[in-house]
Amino acid sequence: MKTTLTAIKADIGSVGGHIQPSRRLLETVLEHVKQHHRGMLIDFRVTYTGDDIAILCTHTGGVCNEEVHRLAWDAFKAGTDVAKDQGLYGAGQDLLKDAFAGNVRGLGPAVAEMEFEERTAEPFLFFAADKTDPGAYNLPLYLAFADPMYCSGLILSPSMFRGFSFTIMDVNHVEADRVITLNAPEELYDIASLLRDPERFVIESIHSRQTGEQAAAVSTTRLHNIAGKYTGKDDPIMLVRVQGAFPATGEVLAPFNLGAYVAGFMRGSHNGPLMPVKQNTGTSFFDGPPIVSCAAYCVHKGRLSGAVDAFDHPYWDRVRQKVSDKATEIRRQGFFGNAMLPYAELEYGGIVQKLKDLEHRFQIRGLDMKDSTPEKP
Ligand code: F6R
Ligand code: MG
Ligand code: MG
Repeated sequence: MKTTLTAIKADIGSVGGHIQPSRRLLETVLEHVKQHHRGMLIDFRVTYTGDDIAILCTHTGGVCNEEVHRLAWDAFKAGTDVAKDQGLYGAGQDLLKDAFAGNVRGLGPAVAEMEFEERTAEPFLFFAADKTDPGAYNLPLYLAFADPMYCSGLILSPSMFRGFSFTIMDVNHVEADRVITLNAPEELYDIASLLRDPERFVIESIHSRQTGEQAAAVSTTRLHNIAGKYTGKDDPIMLVRVQGAFPATGEVLAPFNLGAYVAGFMRGSHNGPLMPVKQNTGTSFFDGPPIVSCAAYCVHKGRLSGAVDAFDHPYWDRVRQKVSDKATEIRRQGFFGNAMLPYAELEYGGIVQKLKDLEHRFQIRGLDMKDSTPEKP
């Protein structure tokens, strides 16, 4: 019997701004799943990272399972009622449609899931990020699964010699899923050419070419593609199976020490370094910095072990300090240049409106007076 891991997350309201959910909100979501999961789930956990609540669950119903998705949707709806009752900020923010329609994809919540035959021991990592978007995982995944400078297993472990295949989604194509699968190491340069643009090309999944087994699943939701306007950054989640024919836990964690600059931060409109944090960390400086947490589990016959907080180790304290310095440094240049995202990626419409308002005041030099007379506002 195959096991399915499903992770679904949503921002449905938080205390004190876009910082973290209330205890009662978390308990409501957990209680809803507890009350309604019988006959459907084997196990589940409810956690938060920043202002996002994630339901991680196991079952045998396969990916995109209607009942499982409905349960998560209803749990978030129940949470939204509490968020409204408590007057929390952004109550129901990520529930962008009124009615459930078969599965939560395209309705607002982010989903990462995979189905597999459990190995004798099945360790995996659950990542949750806040104040950033799904492309934030592009670089860490590329380095962990395709670069022997970060993943020594690619040259030391024969079970990884054939490399991995990357399925990459063009998230700007909103009519339907537009995906491409490329093989590492042969097509490394093609993979890099796409991943360099994390706002458009996002790793959706990774498979072992040795065993055909799926190693990683990333949520690729783009909230503003669904809503057509600002609704908050997408705050992606990700599942990664580790060890054996997959990279070791430490090889998947290692690239997060870069604190690479990612899109998000304040108003989803800036670049900031991605800080690996302990679980249950909110956001702070400039509504950030963008954060990522990682819970390590084993799943056995669908039962989840206790979680180990992968970034709760003295090594990462120094990384966090370095990332704070990077965040301070880029913030010193305010709105200028690379500190703020390009026009098309701004999550707020203010600049677009401003440029429209200024349009009629531009003049083309060298035209005769008649042509260059500014239009009346
Ligand atoms: C970013 C985010 C926050 C808000 C900011 C302003 O994803 O959630 O940075 O954009 O706090 O929020 P509003 O416009 O709701 O006052
Ligand atoms: Mg929010
Ligand atoms: Mg969030």
